[in-house]
This record gives sequence, C-alpha cells and structure tokens, in this order.
Amino acid sequence: MVSAANVGPIATFSPRGRRHPAPRGFGVYASFGQRTADGDHSGSILRQYSQPRAIAVSFVGQASFRILASRYIQVWITAGSWLSSVTHDADLRASRESVLNRYDVIVKRILVTGATGTVGRQVVAQLLDSGAHVRALTRDPDRAELPRQVELFRGDLTAPETIEASLRDADAVFLVWTAAADAFAAALARIAQHTGRVVLLTSPHKTPHPFFQQPNPMASMHKNMERLICESGLASTFVRPGMFAANALGWWAARIREHDVIRWPYGDAATAPIDEHDIAAVAVHALFDDSPGSAEYMITGPQSLTQREQVATIGEVIGRTLRFEEIGPDDAQRELGFPRAAIDMLLNAWSAAITLPAYVTTTVAQVTGTPARTFAEWVRSHKQAFGRA
Ligand SMILES: NC(=O)c1ccc[n+]([C@@H]2O[C@H](COP(=O)([O-])OP(=O)(O)OC[C@H]3O[C@@H](n4cnc5c(N)ncnc54)[C@H](OP(=O)(O)O)[C@@H]3O)[C@@H](O)[C@H]2O)c1
Repeated sequence: MVSAANVGPIATFSPRGRRHPAPRGFGVYASFGQRTADGDHSGSILRQYSQPRAIAVSFVGQASFRILASRYIQVWITAGSWLSSVTHDADLRASRESVLNRYDVIVKRILVTGATGTVGRQVVAQLLDSGAHVRALTRDPDRAELPRQVELFRGDLTAPETIEASLRDADAVFLVWTAAADAFAAALARIAQHTGRVVLLTSPHKTPHPFFQQPNPMASMHKNMERLICESGLASTFVRPGMFAANALGWWAARIREHDVIRWPYGDAATAPIDEHDIAAVAVHALFDDSPGSAEYMITGPQSLTQREQVATIGEVIGRTLRFEEIGPDDAQRELGFPRAAIDMLLNAWSAAITLPAYVTTTVAQVTGTPARTFAEWVRSHKQAFGRA
C-alpha cells in the first residue's frame, strides 16, 4: 500500500465541456464531482497504471476544486491521498471494480460493437487505456482475440434479444453497423431501453465535396440510421470518417506482397486516408462525453493524397519501388473482385474527385489534442502486411 499526496491537473475541458484524457504515465487519476440526487457525478476519469500488472486507484482526501480559468479551460485540481491497490491477472477486473465500488468512483461501462473490426479493436484498446470497463459484442467470442480485461458477450445485432445482456447498465454504446439495414430499427430500440448514449460510426454523407456526394447505398443507410437515432431521444455522436487508410490492406497488401505493379483505376483521385487509431480516439472522446444532445465529427487524415501517391508512399516505407498502372472502370469492375454495388460506389466517387484535392479537416486534432496520423505513419505501423515473407 502506498500513500502520497498529489496535486495536479487531471483533465481539461474543451469549449463544449468535453474532456481530454489526462497525460499518460501519470498513474491513475480520478476526479470527483458532486453526487447529485439522481446519482450522477459531474465527472470522473480513471486511468490504469502504466505497469501492466498493477493498478493504482487514487481517491480522496477529497478536496476537489474546480477552477474555471476561462470559458475554454477548466482545470481540476485534486489534493488527496493515494491508495495503491495491486492486483494480478485474473483478478484485475474484479479487483478494480471492487475498489471502485468501495470508494464510490465511477467507471464508465461501455459496450463496443464491431469490437473485432478495424475501428472497434482500436476503440477497445483505447477505452481500456482510459480505465473504462469495456464490454465487447461479437458473434463468436472464441475467435474474438480481444484483451482479457474485456468482458465478452456473444450476440448478433440482427437478433436483438441476443444483445440484451451486453446492454444492461451500459453507460454508452459504440455502434458499428455492417449488417442488413432493415434490422437496425429493432436493434436500436433494444439499445435505447438500456443506455442513454450512442456513438455511431457513420460516413460523411453531408460533406459538400463531390467525392462524398455520389450515389451511395451505404450513405443512404447511414442517413436513415442517423434519423432513427435522433428520433430515439438518445444522446448521440456521429463519427464520420472519410476513407480509411486501412482500405489499403484489403485493396493492395496482397498484391504488393507478390508484385511491384498495382493495376488500379483513377490514380489521380485524391482522398485523405485516416488511421483507424484516430477514428477510435475521436469515438472514445465521444463515449466519455457526458453532455446531452447530439454532436458530429467529420474526420479525415491530415493530407490529400492521390491513389498513385498512396501506393508510392507504401513503396517508400517498405523500401521498394511500386508502379501504379492505371486501368479503366470496365477493367476495374472485372479485375478487382469487389461486389458490383461496392465497385460502382467507389468508381463514382473516385471519378468525381479526379481533379480536386481531397476534403481535409483538422477535427481529430481539435477533438483529441493530437494531430491526425499521416498515411506514411499508418503504413509504418502496418508494414508487415505489405512485406514479402
Ligand atoms: N472503409 C471505409 O473507408 C469507411 C469509411 C467511412 C465509414 N465506414 C464505415 O465503417 C463501418 C465498418 O467499420 P469497420 O471497418 O471497423 O468494421 P469491420 O472491420 O468490417 O468489422 C465489422 C464488425 O462488425 C461486427 N458485426 C458484423 N455483423 C454483425 C452482427 N450481425 N452482429 C454483431 N456484430 C456484427 C463484426 O463482429 P463479429 O464478426 O466479431 O461478430 C466486426 O467486428 C461501416 O459502417 C462502414 O460503412 C467505412
């Protein structure tokens, strides 16, 4: 057991009262607001100690002073004693819960759907890092390969009764929808029975750039889902990423492992590929948000890059010269092996963007405090996927 005094800023708030996580490596932080009649706390954040096998829980000598420095920055200063409680592997989650219950610290209980997918995995990792209690929904827990601190639930979003257990007492839900559109309303109704906040991974269908304004069945589905969420009365955040950098894995990685030539349409069409880490960071921010109502974030990577430049960037990072060989739309339909609806959607978008720079926002930096990662950084962190064995 360790005891130490601590005075330090533990969280800052942006203009809309949104919390930015406390700095890393500072141990565990908890902020304490007033418990109100309905059991609400005005704010709490818990961070897991950087040593993997230990958690330390800070609580309370409990002078907590909120200083409103300006409309833009609130600094919370907590003076108190530290209690350190060391736990080990299997007991980690249970011990943390019991310590938290004992000292009345609120930990958000968050359900992540799509937790085994590109963005959801990142959301899970970042939520754990922020000290949340993470639940994950998957149709097959045996294949989920998620960290053991995660509470796994077997369920299918298209069969709402199977997601009931995962939703009980959830403070917020991260919602990824890749299932049939007509199953969404029933799932949402079930979600709304149990939680007050949804963060939806959706798309930038409102953005006035030709790339995002072409016929697109996915965008139509997202529009409808957003409408239903707004009508449900849930507090909501719509996270609208542009093109995922991770598309390069499905589109080009296998080919690059075997060949130096990429045959692809619309080499001069530009996008601003976004790293799934940054999409998740914005989503996590929204999941911790306590403000009522709705918000939306149109997020992109930091640079406009043509598809030709993206392939060249991969080559530079892996140390090979890759050649982009442009093919026409008909060849693309025949060769790329995408479902017809998907390839039509992409060809429409690329052809509309051919002479324009991509739409780029700085929203990731504004929301998270850290600039969006570049495509080259993304390739570096996925280098092995493009390498030859
Ligand atoms: N790719 C892009 O450039 C782009 C851009 C903007 C928006 N988006 C949107 O991003 C979303 C896809 O995100 P992602 O790439 O992270 O997903 P992903 O990697 O395709 O993974 C899909 C996830 O959904 C889960 N899932 C699928 N059907 C389910 C069901 N019936 N019940 C429960 N879970 C189910 C899967 O979980 P299990 O298999 O474990 O059950 C998996 O975790 C889509 O809505 C897409 O429109 C994509």
